[in-house]
Amino acid sequence: MDAVNRRWVLAERPSGMVREGNFALEQTPVPEPPAGGYLVRTLYVSVDPAMRGWLDDRPSYVPPVRLGEVMRAGGLGQVVRSGDPRVPVGQLVQGPTGWQDYVLGGPGFVPVPAGVPPELAMGALGMTGMTAYFGLFEVGAPRPGETVVVSAAAGAVGSLAGQLAKIAGCRAVGIAGGPGKCAWVAGELGLDACIDYHAEDVGRRLADTCPDGVDVYFDNVGGAILDAVLGHINLRARIVACGAISVYNAAAPAPGPTRLNRLIVQRARMQGFIVSDYARSFDVARRAMGRWLAQGRLVSRSQVVDGLERTPAALCMLFTGANTGKLLVRVADPR
Ligand SMILES: NC(=O)c1ccc[n+]([C@@H]2O[C@H](COP(=O)([O-])OP(=O)(O)OC[C@H]3O[C@@H](n4cnc5c(N)ncnc54)[C@H](OP(=O)(O)O)[C@@H]3O)[C@@H](O)[C@H]2O)c1
Repeated sequence: MDAVNRRWVLAERPSGMVREGNFALEQTPVPEPPAGGYLVRTLYVSVDPAMRGWLDDRPSYVPPVRLGEVMRAGGLGQVVRSGDPRVPVGQLVQGPTGWQDYVLGGPGFVPVPAGVPPELAMGALGMTGMTAYFGLFEVGAPRPGETVVVSAAAGAVGSLAGQLAKIAGCRAVGIAGGPGKCAWVAGELGLDACIDYHAEDVGRRLADTCPDGVDVYFDNVGGAILDAVLGHINLRARIVACGAISVYNAAAPAPGPTRLNRLIVQRARMQGFIVSDYARSFDVARRAMGRWLAQGRLVSRSQVVDGLERTPAALCMLFTGANTGKLLVRVADPR
């Protein structure tokens, strides 16, 4: 086993765009599990847009990461020492590993079901898939024949939400940055159209691609794209406020959408949610997602960056659109 634990801590709070230099790589001794405890060697860590919010010193749905604290993150690892007969050495587990090589097992860790590849466990069958599933089905409540628009449609959550809208029998239109991403969304993922917001006028293209208006908008980005979609919502539309990545790095509060009065006129509902609200129903969702994956009705894509040392750089990739599908960092290989 390694003698040291490498770990990324928060060195300073970002002002504006998050930078690699906001984090520092430290080396500490590998922690000793207490009697009856176990030690996990991290194999993968997640990078998520929400992490940007955890770096600011302001109230949110979780406390901010403290300066000097190991960066909070979900991850997947392998048990390498164990005094707990229920968690044998070799077992793959998922939980709050943080951005580090080793972590003591404890609350929040669960076994990875046998045969589930790590990338799926952290993608379509993990928080990403749960977010797409509950955001679309519980908050968006799409009905067959309705039109669903999804932003960040080539990203981790968006790529699944768009496909789930097709499974629900809806017309599905994605919005993504660049021709390559749009070709994937409207090609392999099977959405009816994809708008390239870098090159196209989103409002005009929404009129072309959603001739019957928008019934459900799965919003991952907020800002100007939300405003453009508001201009096309139907009577009793549902707006799923999943994320607002376009404003996460704003140094000052960004001006709000200008078309919120459309909610009144169209008697529409806009509802935020946090995926953990639905934790008690994750098993139901995992079974459904697993079935659609097995049937080939759902495509799950991940992009893996190699090396714990590249984790802050990987986080920054999310804000430049350098990822397609679920972005993960591979820290080590299983033994
Ligand atoms: N509510 C919840 O419980 C919950 C849980 C998980 C995630 N989320 C939210 O879901 C959203 C997607 O998360 P994810 O993990 O799936 O990330 P992701 O979509 O895989 O990656 C982020 C993507 O956002 C797009 N983006 C970046 N900056 C943008 C900008 N200024 N304007 C428009 N698009 C921009 C980029 O795609 P393009 O190249 O297409 O721009 C990038 O690839 C985030 O807002 C996240 O906070 C919410």
